[in-house]
Amino acid sequence: MTFSKNIDLNNVPKHIAIIMDGNGRWAKQSGQDRLIGHFAGVEAVRRTVKAAASFGIKNLTLYAFSVENWNRPKEEVDGLMDLLVDTLVKEIDTLFEDGVKVMTIGNIAGLPESCRITLENATKRTEQNKGINLIFALNYSSRWEIIEAVKNIAQDCIDGLITSQQIDEAMVSSHLNTAGIPDPELVIRTSGEHRLSNFLLWQSSYSEFHFAKIFWPDFDQEHLAEAIYDYQNRERRFGMVSEQIKHD
Ligand code: FPP
Repeated sequence: MTFSKNIDLNNVPKHIAIIMDGNGRWAKQSGQDRLIGHFAGVEAVRRTVKAAASFGIKNLTLYAFSVENWNRPKEEVDGLMDLLVDTLVKEIDTLFEDGVKVMTIGNIAGLPESCRITLENATKRTEQNKGINLIFALNYSSRWEIIEAVKNIAQDCIDGLITSQQIDEAMVSSHLNTAGIPDPELVIRTSGEHRLSNFLLWQSSYSEFHFAKIFWPDFDQEHLAEAIYDYQNRERRFGMVSEQIKHD
């Protein structure tokens, strides 16, 4: 079956978040350096952004670098930072022309200066774009993001701007890096691993999960369509029973 021809384009998720996993293993299986896997991963990013936009996905979040990824060997971390900068510099004109709005979540202040400047240029240049929101999770940790939100809300209480009784889900959501972006209906992880790895813990409370058994560099339009097809064939009950969903 060709999944891309069988998905319902009127019922695609508003937000898809992807844990791009398996670059290193993809490279190792052909005896290559892990960085070669990350280079190939960029091609998969390019394909996926195009495919997501063509399916009408409004928000695509890509987990590009976690707080935990700093623990990798220095050459790999440096290589990933250089790759991010080189890719954005090379792609920014195309992204702009395609109407893509580049956004970030994560502790951007903790990235090397060259990354910060490149990201700032990319986000500023594309901020008026009305096409797909391409959200890079960089130096990202969901627990860090939640702690920052708690600190800010606590400060608002201390300053007398709000009372603790006013704290609710909407307020917490609005203090996260993803404020204004709908929660992802679909989270995809490649490479066969079944973990969230500190990614969008709050936002994925009601997400559907799709685990693809391929490594990220092999991911393409058809794999994205397969994940959407899988999502469209799930019953999202949000704690209710099946009959309630069918009658509503
Ligand atoms: C996970 O594979 C991938 C990463 C930690 C980095 C993701 C980066 C890219 C896809 C390329 C650069 C991205 C942009 C946005 C330009 P892994 O290294 O953990 O693979 P493994 O589990 O097989 O070791």
